[in-house]
Amino acid sequence: MNRIKALYATTIGKKFIAAVTGLVLFGFLLGHVAGNLKVFTGSTPDGIPHIDEYGQFLKVAGAPLVPEQFVLWSARGVLLLSLILHVLVVSQLAMLSQEARPVNYVKSKKKAASLPALYMMFTGILILGFVIFHILHFTTGTIQIGGFEHGYIYQNLFNSFGNPFVALGYIFVMVVIGFHLNHGVWSLFQTLGLDNPDRNKTLRLISTGLTIAVIIGFISIPLSFMSGLMPDPVAYPHDLLTGHK
Ligand code: HEM
Repeated sequence: MNRIKALYATTIGKKFIAAVTGLVLFGFLLGHVAGNLKVFTGSTPDGIPHIDEYGQFLKVAGAPLVPEQFVLWSARGVLLLSLILHVLVVSQLAMLSQEARPVNYVKSKKKAASLPALYMMFTGILILGFVIFHILHFTTGTIQIGGFEHGYIYQNLFNSFGNPFVALGYIFVMVVIGFHLNHGVWSLFQTLGLDNPDRNKTLRLISTGLTIAVIIGFISIPLSFMSGLMPDPVAYPHDLLTGHK
């Protein structure tokens, strides 16, 4: 415990925590986009969309070895902890770098933050707001746009993204997230000490390529529903879904 505290107290320790938590959050996004792309793979012979079946699988993963939803809630716990630590540590790092800036006391007391630091802060705040809205929209159904039913993921996506304002709003946020990720992955490489003039071009290409792939994957979903390319949802009884593992 003391070692963790000591690590946290140093700048490099904070950078390391920012990198590890960023990696966990990025890993979640990779899994999330892969799972979401199941909207394009059709339905089971019983008519259950693969994405609904996948959502159900996430709920019961690990059972009967562990109680249903145990794996789901553990993953949610790790994600939430990573998110909190990430926000905390990057905010502290931003404040530290601001304090460490040479102050030109003749002209002005404060120097402006660097452009990447500023846009990481603004895009980060927007992403936080989006995640809260998004969970209320697609997980809890507290914010309903066009109707919501628990477990019927395909139908919920169809209903919401049928509204072009919602679809375009999601697409806009995905682009913002792309900018955040691109810089984030690059910073991660630097914190891990992988950067080096000989391979920086390749590392930049990797971070941009990965980010573009993830963002195109996400954007393809609202875009396809909005353009009317996706088949209408077919009603099926909930028992059929919960019987599916
Ligand atoms: C167009 C892009 C996206 C679509 C279509 C989408 C779709 C969904 C859907 C349908 C759910 C509910 C799943 C269920 O009930 O089983 C969900 C949950 C969630 N999404 Fe997204 N998502 C998108 C982008 C994102 C992004 C970019 C983030 C993070 C920055 C994100 C974070 C989450 C989180 C944290 C949950 C809750 C997971 C849980 O604990 O159950 N999503 N998403």
